Amino acid sequence: MQLINQYINQVNQIIMDALKKLDITETDIITEIPPKRELGDLAYPLFKYAKTLKKSPVQIAEELKINIPVNGLIEKLESKGPYLNIFFNKNKVAQDLLTTIINQDIQFATSEPRNEKVVIEFSSPNTNKPLHLGHCRNNVLGDTVARLMKKIGYEVVKLNLVNDRGVHICRSMLAYDHFGNGATPQDTGKKSDHFVGDYYIKFTQEAEKNPELEKETQTMLQRWEEKDPEIRNLWKKMNHWTLEGLQETYKRMGIQFDEIQFESDTYLLGKDIIQQGLEKGVLYQKTDKSIWIDNEDVKLDKKILMRSDGTSIYITQDLGTAYKRYDKYQFSKMIYVVGSEQNYHFQTLFASLKKLGYDWVDHCYHLSYGMVNLKEGKMKSREGTVVDADNLMDTLYNLSKKIIKEKQPDWDDIEQEKVAEKVGMAALKYYLLNFSTTKDFLFIPEQSISFEGNTGPYLQYTCARLNSLLNKAGNYSKDPQYLKNYAFNFEEWQVISNLLEFEKVIEKAALTLSPIDICTYLYNLTKYFNKFYHDHPIATAKEENIRVVRLMISQAVHTVLKIGLSLMGIEALERM
Ligand code: ARG
Repeated sequence: MQLINQYINQVNQIIMDALKKLDITETDIITEIPPKRELGDLAYPLFKYAKTLKKSPVQIAEELKINIPVNGLIEKLESKGPYLNIFFNKNKVAQDLLTTIINQDIQFATSEPRNEKVVIEFSSPNTNKPLHLGHCRNNVLGDTVARLMKKIGYEVVKLNLVNDRGVHICRSMLAYDHFGNGATPQDTGKKSDHFVGDYYIKFTQEAEKNPELEKETQTMLQRWEEKDPEIRNLWKKMNHWTLEGLQETYKRMGIQFDEIQFESDTYLLGKDIIQQGLEKGVLYQKTDKSIWIDNEDVKLDKKILMRSDGTSIYITQDLGTAYKRYDKYQFSKMIYVVGSEQNYHFQTLFASLKKLGYDWVDHCYHLSYGMVNLKEGKMKSREGTVVDADNLMDTLYNLSKKIIKEKQPDWDDIEQEKVAEKVGMAALKYYLLNFSTTKDFLFIPEQSISFEGNTGPYLQYTCARLNSLLNKAGNYSKDPQYLKNYAFNFEEWQVISNLLEFEKVIEKAALTLSPIDICTYLYNLTKYFNKFYHDHPIATAKEENIRVVRLMISQAVHTVLKIGLSLMGIEALERM
């Protein structure tokens, strides 16, 4: 069990016993963690007993204080207005916590397996173009949520639903067919997804001059559905190019999937479900034979689920894949990481599944995220004004290389480049995660890469400094006895009590799907640590017990920083 939870349980019991002496039987006590350490480590609001006891909460706090012995875990009690505040015994906490973190190392804060499966669908690109900035946000959100869920004990399945069919895919195919002259990515030297994406842009340009082209894509799609070998070959060739290119981008970002689903395999799924729904009377058919659902009772609209000619639409496929995924995984949660422009789609999907009788839909969740843009303007991949993911990563790499070259002129090129790549990726990931998920924002490369402030590189830098501090100190005796009688100063205790919260922060970030909470936590921890480091000697402390305690604190911070960064897919660096 989490250390902090053990403490909370223990203190709750003590408080409940003390309440009993005042004739209050409490089973469901409220425990708060005060926003500031000066206010204590736990706080108990006492408003709700005022009426029964006919006393003010202040008075109740005073009486409880008298009844509770100060020993073991509790070092001090304080009544502050209507609250009873508890201060932990610092020596006990430090001893329990620091030795646990140091012993468990990066396994610290890993929960027991829960025997529950969570399916996380993310990325889900289309095969007519490379990834863009929006996908970067999607990828890091999905990947981080997956890591968080795994950390708190879920069995996680990471899933990518690749949209490889449809009229928009035919657009790049058609443009290549008309204007490609048999060129290949190999002979143009282009990254293969960019090669395909360029034909998507080409299509838009050409279709403006010649509207016939748009009609031709319809014919092409029909031929695709009829499995026309010529079209299928072209389709396979171009999809292969795109997927190969996308894979490189995923690899660079450190993103992997457990399963990749292709819409070409799944788009027909769902038709049976719809047919059954019609038979059960949950759906209705219009005279033109199209099939509909009426979701007006849940404040949505009437929605078409299958066209009059029996062809499927976007939602048809999603009904089928959801069903299939439940069948395969029996998930206890399924999370769709998809942009907020699809909010309505998912509301309709979930409402429809519910009406069709699939109660597991209550455990499906749309993790909806806002738009991200560069200052330069709105993204439109059709017009080629999109912020391309690969280019952006190159930009960040170049920016960070410049800084590294200045800071570490003595490193050889290979070392500089290796570190620059990792710093660039940290800048990207952290910046994208450090906004509330639903918010729209601008990505500012120069800000993301800064070595100061609330950025990925700053956290990496703190980690590297800690690494060198600990390295210089060498092998020190990690004797917990030193923690037993130590008098902690304010800065030391601020760091330790912050470390104590880490397990709770992870759990909450995972369950509320809020990676930003990890950013906020790590940034605060770093601030507290840097203050402590600035104000007090650590490895150079004169007295051995002080030196050891401070090194233990530093080592624990280093470990927690590494864990926190790794949850975001960011590599901690040994030096930078
Ligand atoms: N491929 C779609 C797009 O690019 C996103 C798919 C989202 N997932 C889903 N199950 N509908 O917009």
